[in-house]
Amino acid sequence: MSAPPHPTVAPPDATVVPRLIPHRPDASLGAHLARLGPPPRPTRSLVEQVEAAGVRGRGGAGFPTGVKMAAVAARSRTRGPIVVANGTEGEPASAKDQTLLVHVPHLVLDGMVAAAGAVGAREAILCVDRRHRHVVDAVGRAVGERQGRWADTVAVRVAQVPSRYVAGEESALVHWLNGGEAKPTSSPPRPFERGVDGRPTLVDNVETLAHVALVARFGAEWYRAIGTPDEPGTVLLTVGGHAARGGVYEVPSGVPLAALLDNAGAPLAELAGVLVGGYFGTWLDPATAAAVAVDHSSLRAVGGSLGCGVVFALPRGHCGLAETARIARWLAGEGAQQCGPCAHGLPAMAEAMEHLSAGGPGASRAHVRLHQLFVQVEGRGACRHPDGAVRMVRSALEVFAADAAAHAAGRPCPPAPAWLPTPAPGGWR
Ligand SMILES: Cc1cc2nc3c(=O)[nH]c(=O)nc-3n(C[C@H](O)[C@H](O)[C@H](O)COP(=O)(O)O)c2cc1C
Ligand code: SF4
Repeated sequence: MSAPPHPTVAPPDATVVPRLIPHRPDASLGAHLARLGPPPRPTRSLVEQVEAAGVRGRGGAGFPTGVKMAAVAARSRTRGPIVVANGTEGEPASAKDQTLLVHVPHLVLDGMVAAAGAVGAREAILCVDRRHRHVVDAVGRAVGERQGRWADTVAVRVAQVPSRYVAGEESALVHWLNGGEAKPTSSPPRPFERGVDGRPTLVDNVETLAHVALVARFGAEWYRAIGTPDEPGTVLLTVGGHAARGGVYEVPSGVPLAALLDNAGAPLAELAGVLVGGYFGTWLDPATAAAVAVDHSSLRAVGGSLGCGVVFALPRGHCGLAETARIARWLAGEGAQQCGPCAHGLPAMAEAMEHLSAGGPGASRAHVRLHQLFVQVEGRGACRHPDGAVRMVRSALEVFAADAAAHAAGRPCPPAPAWLPTPAPGGWR
């Protein structure tokens, strides 16, 4: 089984804690209010509450959300700020943001309104991928249901963003909302300084904003009751691949990866490796995966990253190098080709990876070349796209080192069907 093409909520099990997404979700406003009560009045003091709660961004980097909110709030006297909720989810193996938006859209909308009130914004834009029609429909319905409620202190609109991997990068989103192509712009100024219409702009992932909505309702102490002290709360993970019960799991941050995989029907004994964090993430070998917890610092300690919460199980007998070569080629095609590492480095890396994967006459040279390319590409792009691609490919050479040596020596794995999804590219506008 591969990653779910449509959002599914995982079945309840020992690891699941349904804070954001209830076991039997109902997307209607009535059900939302019955479960959580009315949203509290927006207040500036939410910035301190979010800082005290220790909410970290769920869009990939895990940046402290309160710090970003404070930076935007501090600029609110010069020009009215604006909030952008990032629900584009360009990561093909991820479904957690789509799941959230389809099943509990009102929690995200509450978070947008609360965050806007906290930073002094009167306008908020919910960005979704225009090819995610189920999401476009769900959020359109939810925004319609709220018309005229709570005196509408914050105007919310939905924007349908082009389907590109880099379109979800915050400066790309801002550039597109300002009428340009959905390509990253070199920074500074960063969006929190000058973003949409030149205004201070708070760009937060939709899951992050759903957590903010819970902090606004229940406070920092409640929020910190689960998760780790450094990374409190729950986290949404998309478990896919060789998993009998794949889907989106909401678990306390710090849950053992082995327990999560077990509950999802993906026992480590049956796996060749686990891709954690998505296409900017890292492959983990089964022994490392057996001992690591799912949070930023634990994963960083073993050279991994949590990224956007993808956990993809590759079964034994399938070639991790072939999967990685396909993803590397896809990532090369998804770059905006504006910087050298993106225009030249990533295609060269994809080509070398394909040679190694094929195991033909040039495989050994390609293996050496890959290590040279890592050094040439890393740290040179204007955004993190090339670095993310390097991290994922480098981890594949480490985790599948024995396979890489065999391929380089002319003994490739037999061809096998593709597992990880690589969707066709969309436009830039
Ligand atoms: C190439 C690239 C693609 C990205 N795609 C997404 C995305 O699809 N969704 C998202 O929330 N963040 C994405 N990000 C991260 C955003 O730039 C930004 O950091 C994030 O939306 C901030 O939200 P957070 O602080 O709540 O994590 C991407 C970053 C890069 C470099
Ligand atoms: S690295 Fe690629 S995606 Fe990032 S800014 Fe440069 S050209 Fe654009």
